[in-house]
Amino acid sequence: MKLITVSDEEELSRIAADILFTKVKSAKRLVLGLATGKTPQGMYRYLSKYSKECKQTFQHIHTVNLDEYVGSTTYHAYMEEHLFRHIDIPRDQIHIPDGEAASLIEECSKYEQMIKELGGIDLQVLGIGENGHIGFNEPGTSFDARTHVVQLTDSTLKANAKYFVDSEQPKQAITMGIGTILESKEILLLAIGERKANAVKELFKGSLSEDIPATALINHPNVTVLADKGARKLLD
Ligand code: F6R
Repeated sequence: MKLITVSDEEELSRIAADILFTKVKSAKRLVLGLATGKTPQGMYRYLSKYSKECKQTFQHIHTVNLDEYVGSTTYHAYMEEHLFRHIDIPRDQIHIPDGEAASLIEECSKYEQMIKELGGIDLQVLGIGENGHIGFNEPGTSFDARTHVVQLTDSTLKANAKYFVDSEQPKQAITMGIGTILESKEILLLAIGERKANAVKELFKGSLSEDIPATALINHPNVTVLADKGARKLLD
């Protein structure tokens, strides 16, 4: 696992966007796995800016998002606001779990099938939860899990309550499984702030444990972690 330390959120966002944009420019076709949340917002801002300034097309890009709340389109709206409305990606090449599907179980297997048909994920961007979750794979999730419906923990609900000031916060989500994430050819994990320091420490100093989902990445051959000083604080 490679660690790149940056001084602050701004630098992290720029470097993450540089990594993605270089791939977008050079690949003939690319399947990007994307995350939502606070952490990648700056990365999407830079990516949108680069794409505009360089008149870079995204016609050859397919995206696959990690997760969505059940009964909600929160992350669909997030992706639209932060990235999709700023680039020319064909709409049918955007994939986000449908949290409003009549059958959630069926939606999960359709999502897995879709990723397979795309030929897998070339580069998956991840954030990390304070409890070490990746996607919405909460502590205790099997490392073999495929896309599934999860019951969110109190810690995750609390961390994300800010997105639901005007509406009731769903307590369930659909998430790509850890097994699905691990099949990505390359992974870029972003961590900002001291609240993530313990999870980042477990990633580099801990050992494989389903109690800390992110430790599943320890054995992946191509993971880069971009962390600011706060997030890597417990590694020194
Ligand atoms: C979001 C996701 C989550 C977040 C994590 C960190 O799609 O999969 O795992 O990456 O909860 O969230 P922030 O960035 O808001 O601290």
